[in-house]
Amino acid sequence: TEFIFKRSLGSYLKFVDIKPYIEKTIKDKVLSSKISLWDYYDNYVKDLRFQIKFRKYILSYRIFKEILPRVFFKPVLIPPKDRKKHPILLSFKKYFSKYFSVSIIDLFQQIKQIGDKDHLNIFLVGGIPRDLLIAHLNSKNKITIDELDFVVSGGSAIHFAEKINRKLKGRLSFYKDFNTATIKLPNISLDFATARSEVYLEQGRLPMVEHTDLYNDLKRRDFTINAIAISLNSKDFGKIIDYFGGQLDIRKGYLRILHQKSFFDDPTRVLRMIRFKNSLNFNIEPRTEKLLGFSLDFGIFQSIKGVRLTRELSLLFQLAPSKGVEGLIKYNLLYEFFGVEDLNIQKLKLLNSSINWLSILHPEINIKKDLITFGYIFKTGKNINRDLFVFKKKEDQIIREIITIKIPKFLSISSKFSSFYKYFGKLSIEAKLFILVEMNEKLRKYYIEFLLKTIALKPIITGGEIMKLGFQGEIIGKIMEKIIKLQLDGKIIHKEDAIDYIKRRFIGI
Ligand code: CTP
Repeated sequence: TEFIFKRSLGSYLKFVDIKPYIEKTIKDKVLSSKISLWDYYDNYVKDLRFQIKFRKYILSYRIFKEILPRVFFKPVLIPPKDRKKHPILLSFKKYFSKYFSVSIIDLFQQIKQIGDKDHLNIFLVGGIPRDLLIAHLNSKNKITIDELDFVVSGGSAIHFAEKINRKLKGRLSFYKDFNTATIKLPNISLDFATARSEVYLEQGRLPMVEHTDLYNDLKRRDFTINAIAISLNSKDFGKIIDYFGGQLDIRKGYLRILHQKSFFDDPTRVLRMIRFKNSLNFNIEPRTEKLLGFSLDFGIFQSIKGVRLTRELSLLFQLAPSKGVEGLIKYNLLYEFFGVEDLNIQKLKLLNSSINWLSILHPEINIKKDLITFGYIFKTGKNINRDLFVFKKKEDQIIREIITIKIPKFLSISSKFSSFYKYFGKLSIEAKLFILVEMNEKLRKYYIEFLLKTIALKPIITGGEIMKLGFQGEIIGKIMEKIIKLQLDGKIIHKEDAIDYIKRRFIGI
């Protein structure tokens, strides 16, 4: 099998080389240039002229795309070998009051009543059962809860959410295609999904959805630790349902996929895995690691782009830029996505600690670590395909600031704060923080002083007060800026001095 695999992979790579040919002749068939390689092949392989010309590639294509996945990725669950050896917690009921607020427990009671009445089975699933069990096993008393995921089996999640929202009076939205609903409450968001299994017709694409029972719903999920459910019906309120040994893996600190085709079905799981590895400090179970390597060799990421890719990378970078990037480098993904082979991890670590101290001093400032990391990567890479990523306009602007920012040569520790302000004052906090890593230690120390001073600085005079002095339009902004610079340099301290200065300097211009 290894021989077949290598041979077909070799031919496949040659096949990739004929992409320009495909692009040239397929233009009339393939509508947009954004279409993926897989689509090119799919469309092209059906073309008879192409089949004749590239007969041998068709064979390798077939082996690669259709036969090999079936041979190698049999949807067999990985049996947790020693599951029975360890005692497993059967119910979480008695710990509910330790981890959940009164209002969440009240919500569970309402869910129980409606579920029982309508003969529906309702389960708490996803990240919260995982976090609960991790906290419990590590003797922690608290977990952060801003989202709860529920699975409804035996009926429609939308109907159930509608009913429960009559009492909760939150903001309800639903997606009929997937039969899911979300209720937004002031501090928490509740997601209801009808138990479903997913059939992945195309690697990396959104799956076809079929309604099913809890077992099959859990079976389609990413890791054993994320496939644990807690029942909320009265017959077994609080019961832990753990078909795949998730609790054991929590004990061992293992990230284990549920079936061999998992990464192939949804390549974003690789990024989720790096994220969980970093945030939970878990290891990748050896077989999962093997399958990961194997899946990566298959080029699973070719079909992932746009919002999904950007979102997963953002979540990874938000956690800790240096660890996130290190994880990507480990699996050659920094190169895969950005064409960047290496990045200065030391700089990222410095950035991390700078962000941390600023967050401690100013918890009110929201620093987007992910944008700083994207900016740094884009600044480093030469021919990055920016079309792979999707950012909002404001985010894009921050990234651009980071890409273009430079330290003027003449800035030094003897420069005035107002000179620093001239170059960096108007930039986003992300760009202001990023530039710090480009400085030598002496300048950095001075710059940090400047940064803290600008953050704490309150303009001594308001726009309204300047207007009262008889100014209008653009000049107000200019005056404000001048006053801020004088304040930063310690030349103006009181409002009266500012008014005096404005009168002397600007009246009569
Ligand atoms: N899930 C999955 N495959 C994905 C994404 C999600 O199987 N690519 C499943 C997992 O069971 C996951 C659940 O959907 O636990 C909810 O996903 P999400 O809310 O994105 O993540 P959480 O696991 O809840 O983790 P967190 O919110 O802490 O990031």
